[in-house]
Amino acid sequence: MGKKVLVTGGCGFLGSHVCEFYAKRGDEVFSYDNMTKHELERTGFATEAARGYNWDYLKGIGVKMVKADIRNFEELIDNAQGCDYIIHTAAQPAMTISWEDPKLDITSNVLGTFNVLETARRLKVPVASCATVHVYGNKINETLKEGDKRYVREPEGIDENHPTLEGTLTPLHASKAAGDIYVRTYIDTYNIEAASFRLTGIYGIRQFGGEDHGWVANFSIRSVLGWPITIFGTGKQVRDIIYATDVCEAFDAFYKTRKPGIYNIGGGSKTAISLLECIDIIESINKKSPEVRFAPDRHGDLRYFICDITKAVRELGWSPKIMPREGIERLINWIHENRESFVKEEK
Ligand SMILES: NC(=O)c1ccc[n+]([C@@H]2O[C@H](COP(=O)([O-])OP(=O)(O)OC[C@H]3O[C@@H](n4cnc5c(N)ncnc54)[C@H](O)[C@@H]3O)[C@@H](O)[C@H]2O)c1
Repeated sequence: MGKKVLVTGGCGFLGSHVCEFYAKRGDEVFSYDNMTKHELERTGFATEAARGYNWDYLKGIGVKMVKADIRNFEELIDNAQGCDYIIHTAAQPAMTISWEDPKLDITSNVLGTFNVLETARRLKVPVASCATVHVYGNKINETLKEGDKRYVREPEGIDENHPTLEGTLTPLHASKAAGDIYVRTYIDTYNIEAASFRLTGIYGIRQFGGEDHGWVANFSIRSVLGWPITIFGTGKQVRDIIYATDVCEAFDAFYKTRKPGIYNIGGGSKTAISLLECIDIIESINKKSPEVRFAPDRHGDLRYFICDITKAVRELGWSPKIMPREGIERLINWIHENRESFVKEEK
């Protein structure tokens, strides 16, 4: 018999892939999501169609839906009874929203993660939680050289021993780092089977990325719709982008190996790409040039991150498979097939 998997934020971008991954293997999957998706209001997309998209899709493949909030501990632990694995993706993930609404940010990311860990401890269930490479802070910006199309750094990869929270902080740094520290704390103090994944930029289908969060999808959607793209900064910012299903494989590898700890999860050097290079790929797929505008850097921006994934490869026996061009092509095809979720007047 399959296992019971609880996915917080199951109707979000990454959460929807995790739900699909386990549902397609015959597991019983519960999406636990409050369906707020605050940043959707700001994208200019057909908000209601976009908000309901992942819910409808997951329902169609047999995922069970719970509309509830991770900040409500009683409801969370009630719904987690009998489950074999908790994957915690629910969050306030955007830096911009974190400084506009720091209370939403701290309650979602700190109290929410605490509730998830406490649920895992009481029910003795393994848990994987999503952190971000932003926990390292943006002092990394001071170590870069400016190449033609991207920032470069020696050595390229950054591992888990790199100091955290260096540089200018935003509420998102504080709240995501606190979640990451709580995972460590629960491993050290209560011996729970937990992992904190410090994730790099993730992309893939079912990502309604806007200017606040999800830049690969934001650029792809805007290019397909013929909307102008705004780049904040030079466009030479670099991430080792990772396709969502590769992250699902990492969650599953942790379930199988149960080696608690902190892991950098990204594509590593081979998937590293700058914003300008990403736009070049989108342009070559779409066969048209998007209109690109430049605006100043945003407060807290991290100009470079490439994960050294040695630890995840060694301990979890995992490695990413999908290269940027293949992943972006999948994303663009999906956007073409789902225009009505983006363009209000075509609804
Ligand atoms: N997308 C990326 O590039 C990226 C990069 C690094 C880290 N991460 C992390 O990965 C995780 C998933 O990110 P995503 O891009 O899928 O985000 P997302 O915004 O698409 O999904 C988050 C989901 O959580 C839900 N949610 C928010 N607050 C909730 C609450 N209080 N209770 C219940 N549900 C709630 C939202 O409704 C949404 O469906 C987050 O922890 C994020 O910080 C994402």
